[in-house]
Amino acid sequence: MTHKQEPVKGTQGDVTTADNAKSWFYTDVVKDHFFNPRNFMLNDADEAEFDAIGKVGSPACGDELRVWLKVESGTERILDFRWKTFGCGSAIASTSIASVIVTENGGMTLEEARALKPQDIMERLGGLPQRKFHCSVLCDKALRDAINDYYRRIEQFDKIIVEASRIIDPVSKVTDKDIEEAVLEGAHTIELVQQKTKVGIGNPGCLPAVEELIRFYKEKYFG
Ligand code: FES
Repeated sequence: MTHKQEPVKGTQGDVTTADNAKSWFYTDVVKDHFFNPRNFMLNDADEAEFDAIGKVGSPACGDELRVWLKVESGTERILDFRWKTFGCGSAIASTSIASVIVTENGGMTLEEARALKPQDIMERLGGLPQRKFHCSVLCDKALRDAINDYYRRIEQFDKIIVEASRIIDPVSKVTDKDIEEAVLEGAHTIELVQQKTKVGIGNPGCLPAVEELIRFYKEKYFG
């Protein structure tokens, strides 16, 4: 399926720039979860009531998301998923639907939740405008951070998965995470990624690795 929600020519989008040059639409599911967010916390949670906390910030826009989980010991099923964000409408809708997906039907196990992909969230939302993909990735990352926090608290350190970044271009100090963010921001060619990150400008030898990463992240997030 395509995740692009582009405007129909001659119609007004849900969001339109001041000069009317650009606009885009949101699906009814996105609007429902934006206007009626599920499992949302207006204030910070009482952390003593929860078994794990996850937190992530978006380098793309500076927004932030926190999640709190209640986990059934033994089964490791997620019984409760609460969240709070300083993100945009797409981040709110994505996290709201993720909180439903993770807790419905008795709750996913931590391992099942860890395997949840941005595409799964996107499909339940009926798509997001391409420029908003990075917002949907926030909840996926915060959830994985909370799962690590749970295993850390119960001292099962072998189950913690750390996503370390790797330097791809030692000259411009660009990492694989920088390239991931650029692809999420819509830079899907080597030229666009270079414009955003300056990768390979003084070190063209790294460009084959950059192209491989662009392919990898495009496949991961856009299918
Ligand atoms: S979360 Fe920052 S723009 Fe959507």
